[in-house]
Amino acid sequence: MSALFSPYSLKDVTLRNRIAVPPMCQYSAEDGLTNNWHRTHYDGIGRGGAGLVVVEATAVAPEGRITPNCLGLWNDEQAEGLAWIAKELKTYGAVPGIQIAHAGRKASANRPWSGDNHLAEDDPEAWQPIAPSAVAFGKNLPRVPQEMTLEDIERVKADFVASARRALDAGFEWLELHFAHGYLAQSFFSVHSNHRTDAYGGDFAGRSRFLLETLAAVREVWPERLPLTIRFGVIEFDGRDEETLAESIELVRAFRKGGMDLLSMSIGFSTPEANIPWAPAFLLPYAERVGREAEVPITTAWGMDDPHTANAAIADGKLDLVMIGRAHLTNPHWPFQAAKILEDESPSWVLPAPYAHWLERYQ
Ligand SMILES: Cc1cc2nc3c(=O)[nH]c(=O)nc-3n(C[C@H](O)[C@H](O)[C@H](O)COP(=O)(O)O)c2cc1C
Repeated sequence: MSALFSPYSLKDVTLRNRIAVPPMCQYSAEDGLTNNWHRTHYDGIGRGGAGLVVVEATAVAPEGRITPNCLGLWNDEQAEGLAWIAKELKTYGAVPGIQIAHAGRKASANRPWSGDNHLAEDDPEAWQPIAPSAVAFGKNLPRVPQEMTLEDIERVKADFVASARRALDAGFEWLELHFAHGYLAQSFFSVHSNHRTDAYGGDFAGRSRFLLETLAAVREVWPERLPLTIRFGVIEFDGRDEETLAESIELVRAFRKGGMDLLSMSIGFSTPEANIPWAPAFLLPYAERVGREAEVPITTAWGMDDPHTANAAIADGKLDLVMIGRAHLTNPHWPFQAAKILEDESPSWVLPAPYAHWLERYQ
């Protein structure tokens, strides 16, 4: 059996293979609620055979949505809709995960296909974004956020805790804290966005504080038996990468000490001036380094969808899981395709029975 199809256990959870679907916003909700689109989308992906499916960035508070159409988990009605998805993913044998998030200064935006920019301030659907400092991201996201007070910081940490509780009650077995991509938590860590002079800014300890306190608070309510993971951008590609990587690795070690079970390594996206060297599997060398130096179980995404590359990353011990995102949008049966390309024997779960009977011999 290929390494990609070997099971993976973390805490009391066992994934049937090393294929994980990373969170991918659908920007299709009203009032943060799931609807038929989400049900169909996650059903399809669950059926496809991935070991883990992480539900898209789900906001811990209304002002933490990227767009007015993002999912939320700040009330029980939203949790009820998500519980249906968690149950369905489990029915198909995938471990149901969810990413809980706060968009910070990138909040109050149009959907990507409607401009991918901030909503006009006088748009009835717009709201005031909050962030560590009153510094705009720039370019397509020019709106200046309101600097968070200490009360705001306490409230958002409590929002993360309340959403984690709801995720647990809804049946999710894998929690991911969204500390990446220039959203609120990443923006506390980044020197591009955090210009505070109090305990939540300044040096490494100050810029790490919000992230570590949020992790600690969530760890208290998320059970030890279930994986608590973090998606974090360890690098910005902004010309000061060695410095950022060194700090990031130190912070990842602190996450580990603070009870994080696995790191989903990504990019910071804290500045529009970054020069990202897009290429297939381009984050893999960084993931390997961060995993080794910080001694943490690790995964990454971004162009990992060549099955040989994905398999080798696991076989060579560079990653514990491989995140396959967009390839699952074009083909929810990517695991079947990968098994075929790797000439793997067809595990019974790789296709649901009504399909497998006709296709399992790879005809
Ligand atoms: C439609 C779409 C929505 C996304 N939404 C999220 C999200 O909610 N949270 C997140 O951390 N990353 C998000 N991402 C990034 C993906 O998780 C992933 O890192 C990215 O697609 C690269 O992996 P891939 O090359 O396998 O697609 C999104 C990407 C896409 C294409």
